[in-house]
Amino acid sequence: MKIVKCKNGNIMMVLKEVEDVTDKVIRSNDVDAAVEKHVPQYHIEGDQVEVFVNHVMEDDHYIEWIMVDYGEKQIIKHFVPGNEPKVVVDYQEGMKAYSYCNKHSLWVNDNIIK
Ligand SMILES: [Fe+2]
Repeated sequence: MKIVKCKNGNIMMVLKEVEDVTDKVIRSNDVDAAVEKHVPQYHIEGDQVEVFVNHVMEDDHYIEWIMVDYGEKQIIKHFVPGNEPKVVVDYQEGMKAYSYCNKHSLWVNDNIIK
């Protein structure tokens, strides 16, 4: 999964790479900010997993989206200030969860295990 930032600020997910985008890829967990407030946390119950981020949801600082990456498919939930940044999805071994903070960029939890 590659998520890139374009010159104009657009954030895009690369569905098919036809040219090298290495210089545009946003590195996750790479900003100097509180890890525990940005890396997606999770709670597993049966075959379901609740993915959430312990982050403020204020007008100027909030989690824009959470993406669950299963490899062959992704689920993205978008948020606005005031929302609770969480999503409940099916559990699958090897799944990853990304979050995107409007101030602190991209974060990932790639260790979601039962
Ligand atoms: Fe943040």
